[in-house]
Amino acid sequence: MAYENILLAKEGRVATITINRPDKMNALNHQTLTELGHALDDVAQDDAVGALVITGSGDKAFVAGADISELLEVAGNDQGAAELAGFGQSVFRKLDQLGKPSVAMINGFALGGGCELALACTLRTASNKARLGLPEVSLGIIPGYGGSQRLARIAGPGVAREWILTGDMFGAEDAQRMGVINRVFAPEELAEGTQKLVQSMLSKGPIALRFGMEAVLRGWDMDQEQGEVMETEYFGKAALTQDMREGMAAFLEKRKANFTGK
Ligand code: COA
Repeated sequence: MAYENILLAKEGRVATITINRPDKMNALNHQTLTELGHALDDVAQDDAVGALVITGSGDKAFVAGADISELLEVAGNDQGAAELAGFGQSVFRKLDQLGKPSVAMINGFALGGGCELALACTLRTASNKARLGLPEVSLGIIPGYGGSQRLARIAGPGVAREWILTGDMFGAEDAQRMGVINRVFAPEELAEGTQKLVQSMLSKGPIALRFGMEAVLRGWDMDQEQGEVMETEYFGKAALTQDMREGMAAFLEKRKANFTGK
């Protein structure tokens, strides 16, 4: 698929998707979401790619939300609104199913659907100039692309209520304090800091990364006991991998592990 509203680049084992509508603050219209869905399928299927970074074009916005002019088209049409939400949710869910870590590199405004996109990534880095929030209530709606569920699970229901009910914007450092952002950098250090984080994950066993992500994700809806049963299954499966033997041998031989993903 030829992309008009996003850029997909691959360098080494890292793919980068850049939402590329800077004149519209990278707002997510239907076409952009469609292109994002295709790019996520591409990244999921490409065995040469071990991790994904998602960012926004320009220095102002990561993504300033769903495209408000398109949102207006579903006013007065609950079915249309449900379809739109379902579509956005299905695209963002691909990040849960990617099988490799994704990092939202938040270079500016991450609002509404943009904040929800960042929340759907495995981890989030941000420039200390970035501003995040869920301003949907200011438009008479609520988050519709999974954000109310993901924010409550990532940062707890207290933070989710504050963000969703006030519609306020939060600076990156406040968002980090609340557990929403993992790492904050000066704007000129954001790309390098994000790459270091990604490369640190890529130096680990890819099966262990996938099992770790799945264990946390699946455990969100389980109680401790059920979660431990599920964790034991992954632990047992990890023990059958060559990567486990390699990781332990490398430690004992005081050398760097050479993981093969087998
Ligand atoms: N949907 C559609 N267009 C958007 C948009 C969105 N979510 N966010 C920004 N834009 C457009 C603006 O309409 C403007 O277009 P124009 O130049 O054709 O008029 C352009 O992007 C630049 O935005 P502007 O508002 O002029 O920039 P700013 O620096 O003054 O403010 C924001 C930046 C992000 C604070 C402001 O654009 C904003 O509040 N956006 C909406 C955020 C929002 O409510 N998102 C949730 C949607 S569910």
